[in-house]
Amino acid sequence: MYKKNAITVAVILAIVAALVVFLVTSVFVDDSEERYGQVPAPQSETITEQETAAAPEAPAAVEEDSASAMPENDMAAPAEQADEMETAPEPEPTVSDEQMEQAQPQAEDQASADAEGGEIHIVKAVGLKYDPLVVKIQPGDTVAWENMPTHDTNSLEGLIPEGAEAWHSPLGENYQRTFTVEGIYVYKCTPHIGAGMGGVIIVGNPVNLEAIKAKDVSGAEGRLVRKAIAAAEEM
Ligand code: CU
Repeated sequence: MYKKNAITVAVILAIVAALVVFLVTSVFVDDSEERYGQVPAPQSETITEQETAAAPEAPAAVEEDSASAMPENDMAAPAEQADEMETAPEPEPTVSDEQMEQAQPQAEDQASADAEGGEIHIVKAVGLKYDPLVVKIQPGDTVAWENMPTHDTNSLEGLIPEGAEAWHSPLGENYQRTFTVEGIYVYKCTPHIGAGMGGVIIVGNPVNLEAIKAKDVSGAEGRLVRKAIAAAEEM
């Protein structure tokens, strides 16, 4: 009985030892497979394509970092290439921009030619104001009013130079007018003069400044006249 027990124990111990050796070996083999099968591959990629500073990190961390970083690098590289591709064609649009810049002066020259040598000055209706409110031009220049869907321009009686033609532009339409007679012109927007909408054009020298000062104008038109006088006295 004692010998059988001893043999049984010895057999059990041997089996257990064999199992332990097998398990340890299998785990080691599995680890070695992981280490030799997966870790070296990311390390080589890391060395070749990633910065060597990442190598000192723990292998597991490097493996995950490289696994996650590699797509980013792959994404970053095409993005940079795309940027380079986008920046590379830019010189061509720059050339076209230069062509546009060359074309615009030609258009302005043509516009000036249409105005018989004078310049065109744009006045835009912005809200219930003309911008710029005061325009100083030379005889022969043209003023073009734009963005006029609900506005007009209407010269104020007695507030334009002697001998100059009064005008009233069609409501809701862009309008342009060439000025040849020197002096101060005060005009209103008929629907919106109550809100102060109007403007001043000074052509050449403000020869009618004293005549305008002598006029007793009140209300919104009076405020326009004061702006005209102030602008003329600055000259
Ligand atoms: Cu208006």
